[in-house]
Amino acid sequence: MPSEGFLPPSLGRKRNMCGIVGYIGNHDAKEILLKGLEKLEYRGYDSAGLALISEAGVHVFKEKGRIADLRKAVDGNVFAPIGIGHTRWATHGVPSKVNSHPHQSATGRFTLVHNGVIENYELLKRKYLADVTFNSETDTEVIVQLVEKFVGEGLEVLEAFRKTLSLLHGSYALALLDAEENETIYVAKNKSPLLVGLGSGCNVVASDALAMLQVTDQFVELMDKEVVIVTKSGVIIQNLDGEVISRVPYTAELDASDIEKGTYPHYMLKEIDEQPAVMRKIIQTYQNDQGKLTIDQDIIEAMKEADRVYIIAAGTSSHAGLVGKQFIEKMAKIPVEVHISSEFGYNMPLLSERPFFIFISQSGETADSRSVLVKVKEMGCPSLTITNVPGSTLSREADYTLLLQAGPEIAVASTKAYTAQIAVLAILAEVTARRKGIDIGFDLIHELGLVANAMDVLCDSKELIEVIAREFLAVTRNCFFIGRGLDYYVCLEGALKLKEISYIQAEGFAGGELKHGTIALIEEGTPIIALATQENVNLSLRGNVKEVVARGANPCIISMKGLNMDEDSFVIPEVHELLTPLISVVPLQLLSYYAALHRNCDVDKPRNLAKSVTVE
Ligand code: M6R
Repeated sequence: MPSEGFLPPSLGRKRNMCGIVGYIGNHDAKEILLKGLEKLEYRGYDSAGLALISEAGVHVFKEKGRIADLRKAVDGNVFAPIGIGHTRWATHGVPSKVNSHPHQSATGRFTLVHNGVIENYELLKRKYLADVTFNSETDTEVIVQLVEKFVGEGLEVLEAFRKTLSLLHGSYALALLDAEENETIYVAKNKSPLLVGLGSGCNVVASDALAMLQVTDQFVELMDKEVVIVTKSGVIIQNLDGEVISRVPYTAELDASDIEKGTYPHYMLKEIDEQPAVMRKIIQTYQNDQGKLTIDQDIIEAMKEADRVYIIAAGTSSHAGLVGKQFIEKMAKIPVEVHISSEFGYNMPLLSERPFFIFISQSGETADSRSVLVKVKEMGCPSLTITNVPGSTLSREADYTLLLQAGPEIAVASTKAYTAQIAVLAILAEVTARRKGIDIGFDLIHELGLVANAMDVLCDSKELIEVIAREFLAVTRNCFFIGRGLDYYVCLEGALKLKEISYIQAEGFAGGELKHGTIALIEEGTPIIALATQENVNLSLRGNVKEVVARGANPCIISMKGLNMDEDSFVIPEVHELLTPLISVVPLQLLSYYAALHRNCDVDKPRNLAKSVTVE
């Protein structure tokens, strides 16, 4: 019989997304929790639930689908000053009402929400709970049943909670209610994000501060293996041995308006439009009093010492990494390898003698990247995280952090974080180059300013791009993006954006590569989106377009001013050749957006996805 520490390989190191909230105070918890869940819906949106304790007892409401569906299911007449809520991205068990959280113990006394994965749940079930009938297929239910079992054996609730936690292998952010004592939320965390917020006459719990900005901007970060007793008048943090830990709260520097859509129909459109302002904020943040770009000296020294930089990232962030590779190699003259994190962790290349690792992650929580960071730290290599989220796991665990300054990105499809990542990588490359005595030959601050202006122009070109989206993408089943050099990397991003939100089968290719096989897929009318912003390959790219047109493709050429030709569908303003990805991506983001709209897709919450991918 394996011990409780045995992990089936398929379950090792998994974490799930999901979002949790909790409230205890004098007001009615329902609306606060529902609003909080709406803000956390980016973390998972296949089902949701609430548990409230009123004078009449515990009320649990669950629904498959979105928070809007849960809202309809919640009884408006229940007044409850305490409650917990959950939005789910399914891992164990299909998305369904029964598998959605909160889960309850056999007698209904205990009610729990969980974000994470309990790797040894089957073992615990067999060893401790053989006589308990389970309602759901989830790993979570084991936790709540164990608490009830240990309380039944005579332990106090807190002791039973702690004993349960000591048996769990895996990740968890937990909030537990006891129907017999409606003045406490029991909270615990290990490897899944969780914060406690300090309100006036109330306290809250949330996976992300965004959810509870409606109540407070004062938050306390929790560390792994901590247990917290949250009442309306106080918060006590303990370690698993029950020793009290004091921690100073921090102010969440988020503007509530940053997380509202305002007059925009979708977050994605709002976030695309925010890109010029983000560029300007980045220039401002990374500029010193002498008008020079600046980055923490320790980071630059560590970069300078490296004989090779390894960029580790997933999805859109890895596409930004490919552009960053060009910057670092061309400006700072350091060789760079870009690896997708899910592969690197298990198939590590031969490393150079003095590697420097850069992790790029909008959320700072991506599990694939984090598992690489853990290994990198074990090897003693220096690491930098470039992220949008201060205090995120990847930020805390790396040696250094650079922040994107992009403001919260809510839409699942990443837009402004991608361009912010590229801009910060450019700045990192420039400052490293300068430290090495290399003249990059242009004024990056000035050129990024021009990029911001060009982005403004592109954001004002929506009507034209909508027309192009209708013509090329409204009814097609596939689409190919081609480009050469930096344009190729942007094509990868354009294709990912399109498939993720419009469900059109889309692929990005180097212009010269289609003819090596994929050209067989070109049929009469197949849309080809070609990027032409690189002078040295402009003519060869146009030759590639002719090859596909000869086979019936419908070409949409997006070129840069100065390289444009009569047949082009859209011309972007001219910017420095190295910085073109910052602006050529904008029409591609908008094309995806309008394609998704024309196809009636849920732009901000595409199927099967979640914003923060904390599953390996
Ligand atoms: O938070 P991260 O940047 O680490 O996320 C990585 C990817 O999951 C993310 O970029 C994903 O590809 C986006 N949804 C694409 O729009």
